[in-house]
Amino acid sequence: MAKVTGLEGIIAAETEISLVDGENGHLVYRGHWAKDLAIHYTFEECAYLLITGKLPSEQELHDFKNELQRHRDIPDHVRVIIDHLPLSMDMMSVLRTSVSALGEPSFEWKPSLEQAIRVIAVVPTIIAYRYHKENNTEFIKPNNELSHVANYLFMLQGILPTEAQERALSAYFILTLEHGMNASTFSARTVLSTETDFISAITGAIGAMKGPLHGGAPTEVIHMLNDIETVDRAEHWLRNKLENGERIMGFGHRIYKTHDPRAVALKEISQSLSGQDPWLDLALHVEGTTIRILDEYKPGRRLYTNVEFYAAAVLRAVNMPAELFTSTFTASRVVGWSAHILEQAEHNRIFRPQSKYVGNMPSKKSIEV
Ligand code: ACO
Repeated sequence: MAKVTGLEGIIAAETEISLVDGENGHLVYRGHWAKDLAIHYTFEECAYLLITGKLPSEQELHDFKNELQRHRDIPDHVRVIIDHLPLSMDMMSVLRTSVSALGEPSFEWKPSLEQAIRVIAVVPTIIAYRYHKENNTEFIKPNNELSHVANYLFMLQGILPTEAQERALSAYFILTLEHGMNASTFSARTVLSTETDFISAITGAIGAMKGPLHGGAPTEVIHMLNDIETVDRAEHWLRNKLENGERIMGFGHRIYKTHDPRAVALKEISQSLSGQDPWLDLALHVEGTTIRILDEYKPGRRLYTNVEFYAAAVLRAVNMPAELFTSTFTASRVVGWSAHILEQAEHNRIFRPQSKYVGNMPSKKSIEV
């Protein structure tokens, strides 16, 4: 049977954007520990760092924030398209379609900081606009007094987030902005390498992000914990899944063979946010039980919680609806994609790997003409 390797261990590009050290559980953005950035810096500062390569000066930060605010509104034609999409369409498909519809001549090659800002700025508004449409509630316009992250919560919930909520969601955004050559980032770079437009590359990445093995996992984590319901049911539930050959969502990672540093940081944040919360107690119990049982069913595979497990806990603590988890992840990861698109464009060479043919050969020599 033909074997699919998933390109494991293959270096597809050199990058200065991030280091994902799976053996030691380290994540570095442009020479800074991601965890330190999540504690001490804002979304805007970290996005600027990833995209341009350096932390902004006061003036640069001021200008960057202004530009992000200026581009929050959804262009009219995109709004009309969203209005006409069937309500049964899932949010990631809506996002993919609406972002695709942003494409016009000013997004053509060569990718620029301005193009990146325009896409990063509008993604949260698209999500909020569609969310209200689906729920038959009134769209809340962007509030330009608020930061990127606080404004996202405001547009969804219609109330100013508390400082703790803003900090928590901001830390979630920062920890998920970027993560090396994951499937969606690789998609963005591959599409861009044909020297197509910025929007095509982002649209491809959104399609990759939608899958349950990538960005779709946190919603599944919520479903799993809701299904398990109580601590005493966990072990039986988990064993049952594994006996059926199913995967436990929020566990395992291609690169991390120890604790995912993002999961460790998000776990701390969710504990500080939620205090005594039976749901979080259940999550903690399920984490411990799953790691133990996975070691029994999958010895030597070194499967631990990945970012998605505690992302679910933090997003739940800021009252983010579960159906928006993957699109919220997209609102953050669009920064990493943008940084990679700009880096790819600087030293572009089209991606063109090979496949090894393991199929049958024709039985007879072809007839010479
Ligand atoms: N539950 C049960 N078994 C698992 C899990 C899991 N969550 N993850 C890996 N395994 C097992 C596999 O069945 C396989 O076992 P085998 O050797 O007996 O065949 C072994 O561990 C290795 O798994 P691979 O699929 O080869 O690992 P890969 O690196 O390709 O997959 C992935 C990584 C996709 C994240 C995987 O661990 C998974 O499916 N996890 C659940 C989905 C999830 O949480 N996704 C979010 C990832 S984080 C992100 O994308 C932001």
